[in-house]
Amino acid sequence: MTDPLFTPFAVGGMELPNRVVMAPMGQGKAPGGMPDPGYADYFARRAQGGVGLIISGATAVNHPAAAFDENEPHFHGAALAEWGRAVAAVHAAGGRIMPQLAHAGLQGLAPVAPPWSGIGPSAVWMPAATLGADAGPERIEGQPMTLADIESVVAAFAQAARDAVALGFDGIEIHGAHGFLIDQFLWPHTNRRPDHYGQDRARFAAEIVAACRAVVGPGFPISFRFSQFKMTDYAARVAQTPEELEALVRPLVDAGVDLFDCSLRRFWRPEFAGSAMNLAGWIRKLGGRPTVAGGGIGLAKTAMEYGQEGIYATVAESSLAHLDDVRERIVRGEFDLIALGRSILGDAAWAAKVREGAHDTLQPYRPEVLIGLN
Ligand SMILES: Cc1cc2nc3c(=O)[nH]c(=O)nc-3n(C[C@H](O)[C@H](O)[C@H](O)COP(=O)(O)O)c2cc1C
Repeated sequence: MTDPLFTPFAVGGMELPNRVVMAPMGQGKAPGGMPDPGYADYFARRAQGGVGLIISGATAVNHPAAAFDENEPHFHGAALAEWGRAVAAVHAAGGRIMPQLAHAGLQGLAPVAPPWSGIGPSAVWMPAATLGADAGPERIEGQPMTLADIESVVAAFAQAARDAVALGFDGIEIHGAHGFLIDQFLWPHTNRRPDHYGQDRARFAAEIVAACRAVVGPGFPISFRFSQFKMTDYAARVAQTPEELEALVRPLVDAGVDLFDCSLRRFWRPEFAGSAMNLAGWIRKLGGRPTVAGGGIGLAKTAMEYGQEGIYATVAESSLAHLDDVRERIVRGEFDLIALGRSILGDAAWAAKVREGAHDTLQPYRPEVLIGLN
């Protein structure tokens, strides 16, 4: 029987040879926003290793408050040439790649270093992941985004989408997860706006998607990364019920999303009471678009249970124990693709090795792989 992980899949006009996606992982190897020249080879080795689709780590769109930190790659200006080299290298290796376009908003560099100058939907300060427990529960600082701020961020995403097409990327992913700016609009905790961006929490995200769709045209895939949790709050939920989720997902579909990349932390966890389906299953059902499920796939049980701070710092042993569960979920239509983060950081040839049954040679993720671009 054909392995469901290695059957082809088409989305938004893009043909994928299999269901394995390299999850977006920011490596922080871009001092001042300039990507390290090693990125091209780093991605090309994953393409050679059989990954169907690569999604770059978060990259900052061209807006003053967009960067998460000073080492996040830019997706504008001089950095674009380096991205062009990465695309060429991935294509030469037979792969496909999308950039993950991001704006950190309240979670960015600006709010960490006083004077506070980050932006968000409302002036609710959100602790950056690095501040941890010392940050206190909540502070109100700065100004909420003006309509002009909103317009300039939407325009920055659209420009990045235009640049992605020009550079030959195979699609784009919009980072709408993990407490980044777009997610700050989706989440009621950070979005307390009295205007229509507060009444309809999906509006900002939908405007960004629509602006990107307008510049890329039809037939160029747009993926949207979505999570309930935040990097600073694993218990947070954007939608408490399927109805609330549908109200967020539908406008995004109407605006032009082809694929939802669902960040789950634990792919097996049911999202709402009364059903075993995970978040990727619900979004696929409610939105009628294909979904990616990611979080804990290919990892041993202990490695999946990472805590608030342990994700980078702990060895994550690989395991194929639950891959049959993943296959069954694909076959019964819960989701279409799987995103692997640490598994593919640990072993660039994860997909080829699993396809060929060379399981005993899989290399685990180790924190040391983050020292260089391995
Ligand atoms: C080093 C590292 C960097 C990450 N950076 C990003 C990022 O830039 N954007 C994003 O959406 N998720 C990011 N993530 C989350 C991953 O995409 C993925 O969802 C997470 O690692 C869980 O998948 P895994 O259990 O297969 O590792 C990052 C994860 C790691 C380990």
